[in-house]
Amino acid sequence: MADAAGPGQTGPAIVEARDLHKSFDGTAVLRGISLDVAEGELVSLIGPSGCGKSTFLRCLNLLEIPDAGSVSVAGISVARQSKRWGRADEEQAHRLRRGVGMVFQGFNLFAHRTVLDNVMLAPRVVQLLPRERARARALALLDKVGLADVADRYPATLSGGQQQRAAIARALACEPRVMLYDEPTSALDPELTDEVLAVMRQLDRDGMTQIVVTHEMRFARAASDRIAFMQHGRIVEIAAPASLFANPAHPDTRRFLKHYFL
Ligand SMILES: Nc1ncnc2c1ncn2[C@@H]1O[C@H](COP(=O)(O)OP(=O)(O)OP(=O)(O)O)[C@@H](O)[C@H]1O
Ligand SMILES: [Mg+2]
Repeated sequence: MADAAGPGQTGPAIVEARDLHKSFDGTAVLRGISLDVAEGELVSLIGPSGCGKSTFLRCLNLLEIPDAGSVSVAGISVARQSKRWGRADEEQAHRLRRGVGMVFQGFNLFAHRTVLDNVMLAPRVVQLLPRERARARALALLDKVGLADVADRYPATLSGGQQQRAAIARALACEPRVMLYDEPTSALDPELTDEVLAVMRQLDRDGMTQIVVTHEMRFARAASDRIAFMQHGRIVEIAAPASLFANPAHPDTRRFLKHYFL
């Protein structure tokens, strides 16, 4: 199956992954995966457990260094051509990562800092923003995700949904061009899931580019511009939700989607 960026993407790509390969202990996990995402798009990645979704997402911001292939985010490109991963590669990867915010399943907030401090920290340390500006930005972001009233509390005193919204605000604090999410709601009770997904939908309306690994098919269907179905380290099929759900081109996509009652 051709593993191209697929149909549906409009406008120039802000994320370009080309022919990424990654193995762990001799086992190929990513087997030549490519994806273009246009600015402002929301692309969901779905697929069976172990197919490489998290690995792919981590390769997109070079938390995981691919064995081969290239990644470009907002014009900053990193290519892995040879076995060596040198200092210049790492510096370029560092530049690329600055354009990317990432949110994980576990909220990963600093427990000994208030919510406000969690959101202020990276702009202060990474961007060297003066305290008052970092504070004003953090408060604006907390307001945006509906957490203005808990800014001075510690993460442990918040619900899971609130913690995840705080994690989103923290990821936004360095003004990324692209947001990546790895199953952002799978640790949450259903009633808390919606408040997190609502924040992501608001960001989508604001024009943020987002790539979301999710098992929330209702969300994927309702909110995505395109959905990519992954299997065995490749994108098998990528399409707009309506066409993917109504008329999956690949039998494995059909089989996978049958598990979800929509
Ligand atoms: N750091 C690692 N070292 C060794 N193997 C790994 C590592 N990271 C991932 N793998 C393996 O790579 C394969 C793909 O893992 P990955 O986490 O990317 O899958 P996934 O699609 O995100 O699955 P899930 O839906 O369960 O989260 C799995 O077999 C996993 O065990
Ligand atoms: Mg995963």
